[in-house]
Amino acid sequence: MAERNNPALGMLSRRSLFSLFTATSVVFLLSWFFVLQSAGGGGGGGRPRFIDHGLQPTAKLLATLDAGSREGRGENEVNPSVGNRSILMDSEEEAGEAPRAKADVKCSLPDSNNKVALKVYMYDLPPEFHFGLLDWKAGGNRIWPDIRAKVPDYPGGLNLQHSIEYWLTLDLLSLEFADSLGGRGAVRVHNSSEADVIFVPFFSSLSYNRYSKVNPHQKKSKNKLLQEKLVSYLTAQPEWKRSGGRDHVVVAHHPNSMLDARMKLWPAMFILADFGRYPPNIANVDKDVIAPYKHVIRNYADDTSGFDSRPTLLYFQGAIYRKDGGYVRQELFYLLKDEKDVHFSFGSVQKDGIRKATQGMRSSKFCLNIAGDTPSSNRLFDAIASHCVPVIISDEIELPYEDVLDYSQFCIFVRTSDAIKENFLINFIRSIGKNEWTRMWQRLKEIENFYEYQYPSKDGDAVQMIWQAIARKVPSIRLKLHKSRRFAHSLGHTESGLTSFQSPKNFW
Ligand SMILES: *[C@@H]1O[C@H](CO)[C@@H](O)[C@H](O)[C@H]1NC(C)=O
Repeated sequence: MAERNNPALGMLSRRSLFSLFTATSVVFLLSWFFVLQSAGGGGGGGRPRFIDHGLQPTAKLLATLDAGSREGRGENEVNPSVGNRSILMDSEEEAGEAPRAKADVKCSLPDSNNKVALKVYMYDLPPEFHFGLLDWKAGGNRIWPDIRAKVPDYPGGLNLQHSIEYWLTLDLLSLEFADSLGGRGAVRVHNSSEADVIFVPFFSSLSYNRYSKVNPHQKKSKNKLLQEKLVSYLTAQPEWKRSGGRDHVVVAHHPNSMLDARMKLWPAMFILADFGRYPPNIANVDKDVIAPYKHVIRNYADDTSGFDSRPTLLYFQGAIYRKDGGYVRQELFYLLKDEKDVHFSFGSVQKDGIRKATQGMRSSKFCLNIAGDTPSSNRLFDAIASHCVPVIISDEIELPYEDVLDYSQFCIFVRTSDAIKENFLINFIRSIGKNEWTRMWQRLKEIENFYEYQYPSKDGDAVQMIWQAIARKVPSIRLKLHKSRRFAHSLGHTESGLTSFQSPKNFW
């Protein structure tokens, strides 16, 4: 009634309705525009986005990374994805899709033209710290082997799990003579002032594995002595003094490596397997980089298996630990031992064990990763190489490249407190159907290259992924460094004015 009696009011509300409609449409169009842009043309969002179109996995992965975490890295951006992304945009444009693609191409072109890799300065440490530990004999004053003639072998077997230092060092050495640096995450610089990071080529895991024993005529193990020498060497360098060590990269992948030195070298960025044996002020996910283990099970090439052709539902092979992790393993063993399609056995993977484990993982749909005496283990990377969907029961685990990689696309995570409830785990695993499993299996095949250590290193393998992970930490290193210099002058200090022996609490 009121409306009919008051046409002005009706007009008003119609007009405001109209402007509301216009505003809504504009917002809708704008958001549509942004959605299209940030999806990089990938469509639908969610899991299948990475699976549906036929680009290389690296490009697919890095397209997400592109839009987010990499922005603002500026001139030091290591960004192989941009080129791929603009290819994606180009092809869409050809399909005549939309003019907004053009704008995106324009934005991404400058980046792809000045792709700048992480600049790494490597100390010329004496050979006893690196290839000397591999029984390579340096002739004369040589520091590095001529890897064009022969690459010194790394001892095989389980030592290889932690050989990360070896692959990174080889990659840096090879940059001296590589024909093309395309797809390389790092460049080597010989002037440390120009470097983003300073790499310390100490083969710490090998030193731990081979030289931890104290011989009768010695007071200390060679591993201990080398760590002491390393600390004196590093803290005497102008590069260390300049930054207090913050821009140094120290590899300590074996959980027991660098046991002594890490308490002195903690301002540096560590490359680690996990943080299990570190106090949080010495190592943490903000400062340090988690690198994958080198898997001991060979890649499953030409894997044509499927949900139905993998008879074992759930596979676990591992050691029983008496410490923390052992309890959960025991509990799970009792919960699962009567399930017919579950393989659960104790015993570490030894020589013949590798053959059996290969067989086991390749014929299983899901592979269990239960925290042991450390949160991480090689088993996860063996499962990935076998395309056996990992089921991770390890509340404290940190995963490689998780800032750019969504593990929920190819791993199942179960909280320990849930896993040890009766029937919880087995019911959960049985509830995952063929389609979901197949999507994860497909994704495993796409991402497995991120976990390959090899020489020569190739685009998108573990070595390149680690360089990129280091590169993503550079802005925060710079921030800390610059902040630390704020009061350097007023205190009469030069450079960073720090020694490495300050306590972590006062340092950051
Ligand atoms: C190293 O680089 C810095 C900064 O670019 C420069 O000032 C210095 O002269 C360079 N040193 C040598 C030996 O080239």
